[in-house]
Amino acid sequence: MSYLYFEEPTPVISDKIKILGFNFSNRVGLASGMDKNADYIDSLSHLGFGFLELGTVTPRAQAGNAKPRLFRLTEKRSLLNSMGFNNKGVEHAVLRIQKNKSKAIIGLSIGKNYDTPLEKAIEDYLFCFERAYPVSDYIAVNISSPNTEDLRQLESEKYFSSLITSLKKKQESYSKSLGYKPIILKLSPDLEESNLEYICKEILDKDIDGIICSNTTISHKYPQGGGLSGEELFEFSNKSLISFRSFLGSSFPIIASGGVMSRSHYKKKLELGADLVQVYTGMIYKGPILISEILRS
Ligand SMILES: Cc1cc2nc3c(=O)[nH]c(=O)nc-3n(C[C@H](O)[C@H](O)[C@H](O)COP(=O)(O)O)c2cc1C
Repeated sequence: MSYLYFEEPTPVISDKIKILGFNFSNRVGLASGMDKNADYIDSLSHLGFGFLELGTVTPRAQAGNAKPRLFRLTEKRSLLNSMGFNNKGVEHAVLRIQKNKSKAIIGLSIGKNYDTPLEKAIEDYLFCFERAYPVSDYIAVNISSPNTEDLRQLESEKYFSSLITSLKKKQESYSKSLGYKPIILKLSPDLEESNLEYICKEILDKDIDGIICSNTTISHKYPQGGGLSGEELFEFSNKSLISFRSFLGSSFPIIASGGVMSRSHYKKKLELGADLVQVYTGMIYKGPILISEILRS
């Protein structure tokens, strides 16, 4: 007697995806921080991205941290940055988004001014949220930059729950007249496991729409300090992606960010459960050809 074995084909993950209420033509997006002021939307929209995340913007314009604040680690295809939210203020970005003619899916990333105390951070986020909401497709809430003093404390029990509760309330009231716009939290790869678990419970409990995993890491020994991005972040941010996916369940929207420099990196993020993937440092080392390399288009 002979048996015929049919090997299960490896599932092909489509580049297109419907998630967060949008039809993404592909899963590769630009990460926050490259077009901080939404000044280059029309040009960026021609590079093949499935979505663009602009900002991070703060209520008032600010210069950011002292220079030098950006270093290449060329052999490691990585970067160290301590920019500190240098930006022209949320209202500038809003005007630019309003004027743009592209059909790109646009997220605006919001933060707080460097001199706003943590106790008043919610006011900064609400200020930006109110202005970002009418013009963007989603709002990315950046509470994980390592370059604004103590910003990451917003991920702690002391601040996290009240911040996301306030944002959800605002979303609920705005959605009645402006339609529903997702709130996506950008999180740190340096969270302790217990903190990460707490955050995930709150995210599910408060109905946050998605997360970006992750921002840059401070777990490195380079003397310049700042946040590490690029190839050296890849494995580290993958660990955090695995944890978030397991705590948040299989259907929760996750955007992966961290060290995607090639198609194989992109595929790995999808295998680990990412729905969408963002790039930044890969664009610095490879240029826009990276997008077609990833998508094989
Ligand atoms: C110079 C620089 C500036 C950045 N600025 C921001 C920012 O304003 N807001 C933000 O959420 N992330 C910012 N990031 C983090 C990136 O969006 C991204 O999450 C991180 O670099 C990891 O992805 P990558 O390895 O593909 O660069 C910045 C990164 C770099 C290198």
